[in-house]
Amino acid sequence: MAKTKYIECEHIYLRPVEKEDAAILQKWRNDPHMRGLLAYRPPCTEEDVVKWIERMSAGDNVFLGIVNKEDDKLIGIVNVGSVDRLNRSAEGGIAIGEPEFRSAGIGFEVSVAMLDFVFDYMNLHRLYVTAHGYNEISLLLTKKLKFVEEGKQRDAILRRGKYHDLIVLSLLEDEWREVKKTL
Ligand SMILES: CC(C)(COP(=O)(O)OP(=O)(O)OC[C@H]1O[C@@H](n2cnc3c(N)ncnc32)[C@H](O)[C@@H]1OP(=O)(O)O)[C@@H](O)C(=O)NCCC(=O)NCCS
Repeated sequence: MAKTKYIECEHIYLRPVEKEDAAILQKWRNDPHMRGLLAYRPPCTEEDVVKWIERMSAGDNVFLGIVNKEDDKLIGIVNVGSVDRLNRSAEGGIAIGEPEFRSAGIGFEVSVAMLDFVFDYMNLHRLYVTAHGYNEISLLLTKKLKFVEEGKQRDAILRRGKYHDLIVLSLLEDEWREVKKTL
């Protein structure tokens, strides 16, 4: 069955995440590399993931699958969560679950689409992201998009017996409009 192309980009499109995606999302959530870089922690079953999909899509939250246009394969997810309507602020996140699609410009392509979406359609003013201090690629991506570092939550992350800082970065709507002119 043809899937909805909710947002179309050059190499990928974004579509709603469905319950039927639970098995592949479960694989990514239990993957050691992803667990090291994201907030995912306890082992999860497919049933846990179905509930997680519901939470991630609830209310004003936006939860979309990243699909490779060439073969309609789901390769990752992108979300806008913690939507604060009064202050027009939310948290964004991206995860490319299939390793062969990382470092190929997809994260950048998805970020541009989501920044346009949050500021032009969701009527938000601020989008923030958090990244583990050692997540170099994520920090390089935010640097490329001119996110501003707001601060560090010191020793907020425990991985492999060591504490690491959690970096908080954000971009405001006017800043994004200026950045976009330079891309
Ligand atoms: C972090 C993530 C979303 C980045 O997306 P991506 O598609 O891999 O990154 P891109 O190819 O768009 O690269 C963006 C920038 O990151 C840097 N980068 C990407 N891959 C790199 C690599 N292998 N080595 C060094 N720098 C790299 C570059 O600065 C690049 O910009 P450039 O192409 O102009 O040089 C993706 O790697 C991912 O999902 N990783 C696992 C989960 C995760 O860490 N999510 C983010 C949590 S905060």
